[in-house]
Amino acid sequence: MNPSLTGRKISNYDKEKDKEKVEKIQKDLTPNIPKSTEKCKLTLPDGKEVELPVLHGKAGPPMIDIRNLYSLTGYFTFDPGYTCTGSCVSEITFIDGEKGELLYRGHKIQDIAINCDFVDVCYLLLYGTLPSDKDKKSFDETMKNEMLVHEQLINFYKGFQAGAHPMAIMVGVVGALSAFFHDEIDVKDAVQREIAAIRLVAKFPMIAAIAYRTAMGLPIVYPKKNLTYTENFLYMMFQDPMDPEYKVDKFLAEVLDKILILHADHEQNASTATVRIAGSSIANPFACIAAGIASLWGPAHGGANEAVLDMLDEIGSVENIPSCIEKAKDKNSSFRLMGFGHRVYKNYDPRAEIMRNLCHDVFNYLNIKDNPYLNIGLALEKVALSDKYFIDRKLYPNVDYYSGIVLDAIGIPKTMFTVIFALARSIGWIVQWREMMSESVIKIGRPRQLYVGEIYREISKLEDRQDSYEQLSDLKPPSKKGFHIYKP
Ligand code: CMC
Repeated sequence: MNPSLTGRKISNYDKEKDKEKVEKIQKDLTPNIPKSTEKCKLTLPDGKEVELPVLHGKAGPPMIDIRNLYSLTGYFTFDPGYTCTGSCVSEITFIDGEKGELLYRGHKIQDIAINCDFVDVCYLLLYGTLPSDKDKKSFDETMKNEMLVHEQLINFYKGFQAGAHPMAIMVGVVGALSAFFHDEIDVKDAVQREIAAIRLVAKFPMIAAIAYRTAMGLPIVYPKKNLTYTENFLYMMFQDPMDPEYKVDKFLAEVLDKILILHADHEQNASTATVRIAGSSIANPFACIAAGIASLWGPAHGGANEAVLDMLDEIGSVENIPSCIEKAKDKNSSFRLMGFGHRVYKNYDPRAEIMRNLCHDVFNYLNIKDNPYLNIGLALEKVALSDKYFIDRKLYPNVDYYSGIVLDAIGIPKTMFTVIFALARSIGWIVQWREMMSESVIKIGRPRQLYVGEIYREISKLEDRQDSYEQLSDLKPPSKKGFHIYKP
């Protein structure tokens, strides 16, 4: 019997057989909070002094351990957007924003991009080390055995109207996976966490490709075992039902594979932090990943790659660059230079540099001599990098600046850009979730707030209350003509 056709429920795995091995791997990969060897002093407004431990990681700035701050002082800290707050210990990914460096499990992203493929990176992030030849073959087989999605899941796509944004479909369908794998998942069980992680990453290409084909009204295509992870994704997206000769372009599949590597993980970004916070309530992992996808979608995060092309379209030609730069600097305008700036990188994002080179490779391969997106993109980058506003704020191109241009050249539609980011990040999210879930104590994520609203108000009688709120006109009660339909 083909193991990939045995119903693929957790109960089909021999949970006991590998239990010891899996538990050991996850225990070895569970980070410990380092012991503090020094303290710092905090002086409170009343002159009282308290000592707080200082924590040193292997790299990065030291952190003041404020876990006991409230019990010692009665004070909380205020840090909207968590600009300088550490929320976890982790051994997965490290960014040095000042140097513009990114490490996956200690390996530089540049070395990984040259020497590895995406499946190597999945293995590295999951197991802490790059696979041997034997490990890779067996991991590859396990992933392929899990690529198919349950046929019932495919019914979910039928509820979306043609033209729905594929990211909207992704949020719904990945969340729906939790309905398929819920009762069986005991997130405290290391083996089940492992299976959930492999399932998520293995099924993601098919889930993403069907989202595209649903939006396009095209029939579903199934994965093939003789294709690689990335080739399968391209095959499922682009296979023409009328063309039996259709073949995935190997070079472009390799380029996409590099793009997946560059997006695989990025420590505690908004979507990963969302996954961790959702998971901290011991929620179903697939539901947590759906929350991460929702967070990624916004243009300030993964949605920036789509927004970059919109921006380049709007600029239209190199002559319009100065007015775009002025608009980005104008504090009365909400416009920002999309694909520029980063919370952590205060230097060139190393992923953007690799992406820019990939851009040139793809254009050479496809023999594209004159591409408006690339022409405007390169010129805009040059102008921004020599402008005082961007220099003073250390705003450089981020990974999304060139990724949209490359994806567009490969033939990926704009609405799929962020889906591809999500496909790549699925491994990062689930590994970060697994790291948190393997800790012996999981603290539910629950920030504090600085309350500035009213307190202790009296409730007045209905007849004494003043009209205060004018509803949106479109939301007023239905007219006599019939049911009211809200027009966005
Ligand atoms: N264009 C113009 N000004 C900018 C930009 C930009 N793209 N990014 C930041 N600034 C300015 C900002 O107005 C502020 O100026 P001032 O100090 O005068 O108030 C200063 O730079 C610091 O910005 P910030 O908003 O405090 O920085 P942040 O760390 O909160 O935001 C960011 C980071 C990525 C959300 C922001 O740079 C941005 O909106 N960039 C455009 C969207 C984008 O490309 N997002 C993709 C991020 S990388 C992919 C990913 O991992 O998600």
